[in-house]
Amino acid sequence: MAAPSLVLDASTGAPLHAQLAEALRGAILAGRLAPGTRLSSTRALAEQLDVSRNTVLNAFARLLAEGYLVGHTGSGTYVARELPERLLAVRHAPAAPTPARHVDPRALSKRGAAVASVPPLAAPAEGMAPGRMAFRMGVPALDAFPSELWGRLLHNRWQRSWRDLLSHIPAAGHLPLRRAVADYLATARGVRCVPEQVLIVNGTQQALSLTAQVLLDVGDAAWVEDPGYSPAHGALIAAGATRVPVPVDAEGLDVEAGLRLAPHARLAIVTPAHQFPLGVVMSERRRRALLAWAAREEAWVLEDDYDSEFRYVGRPPPALQGLTAEARVLYTGTFSKVLSPALRLGYLVVPESLVDAFSTARVFVDRHSASLEQAVLTDFITQGHFSRHVRRMRVLYAARQEALVEAARRELRGLVDVSPLHTGMHLVGWLPEGVDDRAASAKAAQAGLQAFALSAFQLQGRPRGALLLGYACVPEEELAEGVSRLARALR
Ligand SMILES: Cc1ncc(COP(=O)(O)O)c(C=O)c1O
Repeated sequence: MAAPSLVLDASTGAPLHAQLAEALRGAILAGRLAPGTRLSSTRALAEQLDVSRNTVLNAFARLLAEGYLVGHTGSGTYVARELPERLLAVRHAPAAPTPARHVDPRALSKRGAAVASVPPLAAPAEGMAPGRMAFRMGVPALDAFPSELWGRLLHNRWQRSWRDLLSHIPAAGHLPLRRAVADYLATARGVRCVPEQVLIVNGTQQALSLTAQVLLDVGDAAWVEDPGYSPAHGALIAAGATRVPVPVDAEGLDVEAGLRLAPHARLAIVTPAHQFPLGVVMSERRRRALLAWAAREEAWVLEDDYDSEFRYVGRPPPALQGLTAEARVLYTGTFSKVLSPALRLGYLVVPESLVDAFSTARVFVDRHSASLEQAVLTDFITQGHFSRHVRRMRVLYAARQEALVEAARRELRGLVDVSPLHTGMHLVGWLPEGVDDRAASAKAAQAGLQAFALSAFQLQGRPRGALLLGYACVPEEELAEGVSRLARALR
């Protein structure tokens, strides 16, 4: 070997064999050691560099394993003719494409074009995520995330069981987590289920997609709340189903209107504990009517219980799912609201007769949710941290809601009418009659605020304009400051 200058430095603290491997790899990649070059013997190189022969043997072993070197018994060690970098790359790397600004609908299937036309709830661009921008909706208090505790649980869990965590797990999820969720749902939400009925999913969004995929045929009608949660519509459209917008009033989804519009629909997607986005609680009368319809039509109800943990006054209304022994209700909830939406963990409780079909369908989507996060979450729940965290967040959110209402009463009089709600993570700020909420939302955006227009979630009719004001992720003083800015923007 025409030895390239290899400099090792014992004072850096990095093991010498690692330094040598790094230096050789660098020389190979830079072309100073050409493919096919025969390396000096380990003994000679050790002498030349004044290190032990073991150091050289270890460095060679690493580069042999990585594919930079090849060894021929008896005839020495050579720089590989095909470097691993080449084998990992395509033959002609194309130039990086410029990001598409809009989608050409002619390139898509009809279904693809329909899906792409559903406005997504604005997700922050990579790297800018101001988790606590006023009045971001649906994001929990990331400033109060128990990060040290989570880090400790993560570390402990990895140390104890990393080998198990590297293998596939059943599509339905980590069984101890399914047990923990089943226990929690029975006590906190009155859900009737055994752990086997609980499927761990990548958030409510996946529960919606799987439900549409497994239970609906192309063209089937599904009732959706109007106004309602538009990402649910995306899931229906992706499955080729037809949305039937059903109006919502002070009692929640108007079941009688649904019966008039599409009596034979196959599915109804509802948010009974806290209607999204209006925040109303579905009345007992409507709940019974909805369940009776599902039983009569052998249709399904998907209950999205998305932020039911946050009830500030009185006891929460129990889940619709637990009201009936008839197995027509699928129930979904999420850890996005209690912990973080980036965890992508939620649950879907299905009737026993559907467990196998849903588990199999899940295999074909993405096999299962990440097992390390599931295991850590299990520890978080079973060690009592989950209920403690929910209790702390209830107090924090109640204070944040109060701060928002007070600031709004002081500064938004005549501009936005904000009333408190007993539940949830956002409030509805009603605009004066005739004021266009999309224009108001655009003005708020210019002032650096996120305040969705209610009408953006409405499919039919023109509701009175309103801005949706999230408060959970924003500290009180920033809420007050946001309200001042909103007042200036709207004036
Ligand atoms: C009505 C509703 N359902 C569900 C979710 C949670 O979705 P995911 O669990 O997919 O993060 C949200 C979040 O904003 C929501 O508003």
